[in-house]
Amino acid sequence: MNELVLVLDFGGQYKELIAGAVRKLSVYSEIKPGHISAAEIRRLDPIGIILTGGPHSVYLPDSPQCDKDIFSLGIPVLGICYGMQLMCHTLKGEVSCGESGEYGRFTVMPSSKSALFDTNKPFKALMSHKDAVSRLPKGFIASASTASCIAACENATKKLYGVQFHPETKHTESGGEIIKNFLYKICGAAGDYKLDDYIDIQVSRIRQDAGKEKVLLALSGGVDSSVCASLLSRAIPGKLVCIFVDHGFMRLNEGDEIERIFSGRKLNFIRVNAQKRFLARLKGISKPEEKRKIIGEEFIRVFEEEALKLGDIPFLAQGTIYPDVVESGGAFGAIIKSHHNVGGLPKNLKFTRIFEPLAGLFKDEVRVLGKKLGLPAFMVNRQPFPGPGLAIRITGEVTENKLELLRRCDAILREELDRMKKRPDQYFAVLTDTLSVGVKGDDRTYDPVIAIRAVSTGDFMTCEYTPLSHKVLSRISSRITGEIPSVSRVVYDITSKPPATVEWE
Ligand code: XMP
Repeated sequence: MNELVLVLDFGGQYKELIAGAVRKLSVYSEIKPGHISAAEIRRLDPIGIILTGGPHSVYLPDSPQCDKDIFSLGIPVLGICYGMQLMCHTLKGEVSCGESGEYGRFTVMPSSKSALFDTNKPFKALMSHKDAVSRLPKGFIASASTASCIAACENATKKLYGVQFHPETKHTESGGEIIKNFLYKICGAAGDYKLDDYIDIQVSRIRQDAGKEKVLLALSGGVDSSVCASLLSRAIPGKLVCIFVDHGFMRLNEGDEIERIFSGRKLNFIRVNAQKRFLARLKGISKPEEKRKIIGEEFIRVFEEEALKLGDIPFLAQGTIYPDVVESGGAFGAIIKSHHNVGGLPKNLKFTRIFEPLAGLFKDEVRVLGKKLGLPAFMVNRQPFPGPGLAIRITGEVTENKLELLRRCDAILREELDRMKKRPDQYFAVLTDTLSVGVKGDDRTYDPVIAIRAVSTGDFMTCEYTPLSHKVLSRISSRITGEIPSVSRVVYDITSKPPATVEWE
């Protein structure tokens, strides 16, 4: 058994970043609900507990609370933002609502006497709060401050620590060091966790949960579902059936390529050609969220039908990863877009259980896991392709003709950018619903505008647009307008995320 650090969730959007940061520092970490009992925590026997931030105010009647006994278990606790306020409030300190709060990067002045900080040099940290601790509980001291609040506090004797800022984000200088100090200096971690252990933990969990039943995996051919297939086939070989639903929104020749790659592996691979029914369901639909919901639901209906044909398989597995969960609204957050495999799922599911063994990981972690599982580099390094496919890269209604047009433009773009030495992390073409006037030969044209998108990112939660050279852009533009007469012009999307998202819909 690995050493364990529990991350107690109070609704903060960074909870997985915290768990990920702890795991990157070689300590296994799991997220549990904030209201978990002290008795259950004692049973799990963690070496440390981290309380996440959250959008609430501790003094409001329905704000999430924790079992007060967790602070007397003798287990070190680090409260972050709301977590620090909750700890101080629970231990009879005081939290007040500030006038304007602190949002953004602020200078924190630490005290070098605290085990959390290596020096007393001021550093910049990400703050995102209105409330702040205004009176510390008995036995606590302030170990850092900003110009307007107590930025960190501690009761070192009881090993209780709090930080008002977010050490888990890259916007806090030396944030990783602060978490490392908590783990190694305060919790006394030995650092016995590696990503290989994640494989072992998930494999035994899947075996236990599947029991004697078969599991049907929704395989799209992308990195996430391929890694998921590999993990499941290690856990339950012979009991796994991989279904690839060709919804007709794949890129040029992609469906056939996926069939060729996966049918040669021992995965019980089945391709379902469902192009006509997906297109029929999208007839007359132009709103992005509606398209996503319909595609999500139709996917599930196809899987249910296949499960029935194969002897009523009760379990569905998906390669959902953490950003899919966050953007679809998660437990407490705002819906940015309903990823087909999370927010796009219908309510009335016939499957009795959904397995999502990668749901706690970011894309870069999934790629490392794929390499460890022995997947070939071309599979592990594939660019993400959204489940709803080209349907969300065509603004407005999706039709056969538009799909055909976009496939050809996208193939040209990819051919050109595939040649680059250092490629952007994701690139694709979008068929906009804007028509513009052009001139070809002596004729006036009035045809669609194609947008091209190329982004650089690590985790796909944020991204920078990639500044492609004018030479490359000109070549793409003249090839698209030259080879595909029904395109009037090509534009380049130079927006990062935020404020935009990677996909247009
Ligand atoms: P956004 O557009 O949300 O994209 O900034 C972030 C990353 O997620 C991919 N994406 C999806 N992946 N199902 C998926 O499996 C979806 O519904 C979906 N929507 C977006 C997108 O291509 C990018 O890599």
